[in-house]
Amino acid sequence: MILVTGGAGYIGSHTCVALLQAGYEVLVLDNFCNSKPESLQRVSVITGKSVVLVQGDVRDRSVLREVFKQYVIDGVIHFAGLKAVGESMEQPLRYYDNNVSGSVILAEVMAEFGINMLVFSSSATVYGDPASLPIREDFPLGATNPYGGSKLMVEQIYTDLAQSDGVWRIALLRYFNPVGAHLSGTIGEDPSGIPNNLMPYISQVAVGRREQLTVFGNDYPTVDGTGVRDYIHVMDLAEGHVKALAWLQNQVGVHVFNLGTGHGYSVLEMVKAFEFASGRPVKYQIAPRRAGDIAEVYADSLKAERELGWKAERDIKDMCRDTWNWQKQNPLGYVD
Ligand code: NAD
Ligand code: UD1
Repeated sequence: MILVTGGAGYIGSHTCVALLQAGYEVLVLDNFCNSKPESLQRVSVITGKSVVLVQGDVRDRSVLREVFKQYVIDGVIHFAGLKAVGESMEQPLRYYDNNVSGSVILAEVMAEFGINMLVFSSSATVYGDPASLPIREDFPLGATNPYGGSKLMVEQIYTDLAQSDGVWRIALLRYFNPVGAHLSGTIGEDPSGIPNNLMPYISQVAVGRREQLTVFGNDYPTVDGTGVRDYIHVMDLAEGHVKALAWLQNQVGVHVFNLGTGHGYSVLEMVKAFEFASGRPVKYQIAPRRAGDIAEVYADSLKAERELGWKAERDIKDMCRDTWNWQKQNPLGYVD
C-alpha cells in the first residue's frame, strides 16, 4: 500500500487515480487545508476502487505512527504542502513549518518504521531564473521566495538523509506547470479564492466566473512578449509518479527528475488554445509584469524519459479540453 500525503489535492487526487489503475492500494493522509474529501469520492467513482482516508496533519507524529502501525506501507508519495508564492512571502514561518517541518517529521517516522521509499513533490521554481534553456537537472539552484526556499530545503534535507544511510530510495520530482484534469471532468484543480495561476484563471473567465484575465507583462523577450512556461497535463504528471515508484524499487540513493513536456507556450498562446477548446471568448487586458516572474521556462525531461521510461503524452489541446470539461461540469469547483 502507498501512503499519499496531500492526496486529496489537485495533483494528489489525479495520482491516486493513476496508482489505483496501476494496481496499487492507496492510503491518503490529508488535513483538507486546501482540498475537500469529495475529490477522493470521485477518485473512487472513476476507478471503481476505494481509497483509505485518514484525516490528519503530516506534522502529527502520532497520526503517522498509527498509519504505519495499522497498514503495511511500501512507499510514500509526499504532496502535502502549501504552494502559494505570494502567501509564502507574507507568512514565511507557516510555509517553512508546514513544508519543511512536515517533510522532516514524515521522514523521521518513516525511519522509525523502516519505510524508505519516498517520492517528493518539488518544483521548477528551484531553478530560479535559468541562464539557458531547456533546463536540465544539473543546472544551478536558487530560491527567490519562501515557497521556493522550502522546496530547496527539503531537497537538501532528503539528499543529506539518503547520503547518511544507504537504505533510502528517494525521488525528487521537479514539476513544471501542471494543468488539465482527468478526462472524465469529475476531478480537477479547485483553487480557493482568486486563482494565482494562469490556467484556472483563464478557465474561470471562460465559464463567466471572472470578467477578464490580467496578462502580467507583454514586454518579455519571448515570441509575443508574454511569459512562456512548460505546461504539463496533470495525468501525465500523475503517471510520472507511478513510473518513479516502480523505478525506485530497484534503486538506492536520491534521484532528481524534471517532469515537463520540453515545450514552452506563451500566455497569449494559452488564451488562444483555450478559446479554441472551449468555444468561449477569454477577455484579457495587459498589465505590468508580476513581481518575481521570469520570461521563459521549459524543461529538458530526457532524464525521466531515459531512466523512468516516462514521457508526457498529452498536448496543449488535451490540456485545454480537459480543463474546460472539468470547469464546465463544476463551475464552482467541488461543492456538496
Ligand atoms: P494542493 O493544495 O491541491 O494539494 C496539497 C494537499 O496537501 C491539499 O489537499 C492539502 O489539504 C494538503 N496538505 C497541505 N498541508 C498539509 C499538512 N500539513 N498535512 C496534511 N495535508 C496537508 O496542491 P497541488 O497543486 O496538488 O500540489 C501538490 C504538491 O506539489 C505540493 O507540495 C506543491 O508544492 C507541489 N507543486 C505543485 C505545483 C502546482 O503548480 N500545482 C507545482 C510544483 C510543485
Ligand atoms: C507559479 C509560481 C511558481 C510555482 C508555479 C507552479 C509565482 C511567481 N510562481 O509559477 O513558484 O512553482 O506557479 O505552477 O507565482 N499569468 C498571467 N496572468 C495571471 C496568472 C499568470 O499573465 O493571472 C502569467 C504569468 O506571468 C506567467 C504565466 O502566466 O508568465 C504562468 O503563471 P503561473 O500559472 O502563475 O505559473 P508560474 O508563474 O510559472
